[in-house]
Amino acid sequence: SIDFSTLTKQTGLTSLDYGFVNTAATKSAITYIDGDAGILRYRGYPIEQVAKNATFLETAWLLIYGELPTASELSDFDNRIRRHTLLHEDLKKFFGALPHDAHPMSVLSSGVSALSTYYQDSLNPKNPEHVELATVRLLAKLPVMAAYAHKKSIGQAFLYPDNSLSFVDNFLKLNFGNLAEIYEVNPVVSQALERLLILHEDHEQNASTSTVRLVGSTEANLFASVSAGINALFGPLHGGANEAVLTMLAEIRDSGEGVARYVERVKNKEAGVRLMGFGHRVYKNYDPRAKLVKESADAVLEALGVQDPLLDIAKELEQIALEDDYFKERKLYPNVDFYTGVIYKAMGFPTRMFTVLFAIGRLPGWIGHWREMNEDPQTKIGRPQQLYTGSVERDWPVR
Ligand code: ACO
Repeated sequence: SIDFSTLTKQTGLTSLDYGFVNTAATKSAITYIDGDAGILRYRGYPIEQVAKNATFLETAWLLIYGELPTASELSDFDNRIRRHTLLHEDLKKFFGALPHDAHPMSVLSSGVSALSTYYQDSLNPKNPEHVELATVRLLAKLPVMAAYAHKKSIGQAFLYPDNSLSFVDNFLKLNFGNLAEIYEVNPVVSQALERLLILHEDHEQNASTSTVRLVGSTEANLFASVSAGINALFGPLHGGANEAVLTMLAEIRDSGEGVARYVERVKNKEAGVRLMGFGHRVYKNYDPRAKLVKESADAVLEALGVQDPLLDIAKELEQIALEDDYFKERKLYPNVDFYTGVIYKAMGFPTRMFTVLFAIGRLPGWIGHWREMNEDPQTKIGRPQQLYTGSVERDWPVR
């Protein structure tokens, strides 16, 4: 094998690459993307087949451990995750102390960061038992904390997890159940959410995964690394795009300006106006996940009997953009988050929860990459170079 870092040192080569457009920071065997052909595979399996056949936890196992689980491995994994859903009671006080109008992504990243203080027996990245425990704890507790962030934002009491339910159904109950009524999971919502979470599970070296790897390269613990990943995901150019899409669609509806006029403003680059949910660093073709999400959007809204003018606006935007030279020349297509918001809204999630749902979906990918990095003997602390453009040496003025 080639030791690339030694090679770089020997040649004395430094490349300036804003946004790491052409720079690989690592090798990885987890996810394959061919952006020109619109192909995405998890551990070799085409995303279309994964989305059709797998469950969220089965896919998580595949991404983290490299192969599909046997039936007993999967049921053991599922049981272990169910047994770890409870949060330390004091975490309720922690959540209670945060302002009710805090963005749920800020609440989530703070909560995950706090896990390092409560679960000190799973912090050592060099100890396989710690890593295993932190993996299961995160998968079990992140959805519970996400639901707490939601409940807090709407002023409702937190519910305890119901471990008789599947991963997704438990999450739905924690969000939409209340203390006064029996909650019944809607299978349409449950299946659609499972599919959306699967589609978000990994996407190789995106900004949040690279952040998780960079923080992890310092030998920081898994909770600290994932908390940093959640913060990286928050921005509207990354995971925050799903929230930004819905805000954009609602603005178009409320302003009455019409879709074509909005597209003109995007093309004129008016005050940084972008078509949110469009474009991707890697895909220069239709994002294969977006195709699957679009199919779900129609099916879910129909099954739930929801008619949402925002879906019509989204479809009209897509149609106009795909026929327009501005978007064709730049190879801008809908990405995974163009249609997700409309589905999450139909399920009953408030807009500010959308990126939180992305975080739950992406968690297995973050964990898989963090573990892959820790197991790679070539891993070094991440430390990019810079080209210094400041002043030459000068003397401090004597006053
Ligand atoms: N709307 C309008 N124009 C766009 C868009 C867009 N959504 N995306 C890119 N462009 C234009 C740029 O203005 C630029 O035009 P120029 O050549 O005239 O200067 C050209 O296309 C290339 O764009 P870059 O910004 O260089 O592309 P980059 O790869 O750096 O950015 C990104 C990718 C951030 C995703 C971008 O397409 C974008 O901002 N999209 C909207 C936000 C979004 O949907 N993000 C989610 C990404 S997927 C995910 O994280 C799940």
